[in-house]
Amino acid sequence: MLELKGLRKTFHDPSGGDWLLADDLNLTVSAGKTVAILGPSGSGKSTLLKMIAGLEPLDDGRVIFDGKDIDREPPERRGFALMFQDFALFPHLDVQDNVAFGLVEQRVARPLARRRALDLLALFGLSSHAGQKVWKLSGGEQQRVALARALITQPRLLLLDEPFSALDAELRSSLREEFRQRITTAGMTTLLVTHDEVEARSMSARGYRLVDGKLVVLW
Ligand SMILES: Nc1ncnc2c1ncn2[C@@H]1O[C@H](COP(=O)(O)OP(=O)(O)O)[C@@H](O)[C@H]1O
Ligand SMILES: [Mg+2]
Repeated sequence: MLELKGLRKTFHDPSGGDWLLADDLNLTVSAGKTVAILGPSGSGKSTLLKMIAGLEPLDDGRVIFDGKDIDREPPERRGFALMFQDFALFPHLDVQDNVAFGLVEQRVARPLARRRALDLLALFGLSSHAGQKVWKLSGGEQQRVALARALITQPRLLLLDEPFSALDAELRSSLREEFRQRITTAGMTTLLVTHDEVEARSMSARGYRLVDGKLVVLW
């Protein structure tokens, strides 16, 4: 279970204004559940995910996972996976090595990591692409590879930042159903950030809107 307590974050604009991104923000995501956060561009959604991942410092407040305060833990110790909107796959690696990457980083021997990656690619219907460079894949395939790469380390928490924003509408709706099923099957605790309310409602039991640094309950 993820708990955010009293989170505060302000960015100081060089032109004088301040961006209040989190203002005494509180949130709970129960184990195995998906919660969505909506909000217009610039409202601070990505920054919120980065604070949870440990990539952006908090001004104040606490990030708690399974009852433990993790504010001082570096990102790699948190056991979280963050999937960005531009999927950030490694162009110089083939599909299998992209998926294996998180395990290799955790010092799993490369042959074993590659074998696990191949198992996961089979599950995702991507076996035939294992040896291809990622840039040869379609947008939807690349997004599936990105999810496989995020899930292979069996993260404690999945942070999804506008995962389908680069895809066209038709692919987006089929992929979100596929992602929902995979995330449910994996029993993942997930925080989904999006500006698409249909997508958020189809994937999440609870949804909030980020407004002026506070979360307003939508459903
Ligand atoms: N490191 C930073 N320093 C200063 N301002 C930032 C920084 N990162 C983001 N911002 C600003 O904070 C605001 C919120 O950004 P972001 O969290 O990316 O919003 P969203 O993901 O909801 O679009 C934006 O106005 C952005 O320009
Ligand atoms: Mg963003």
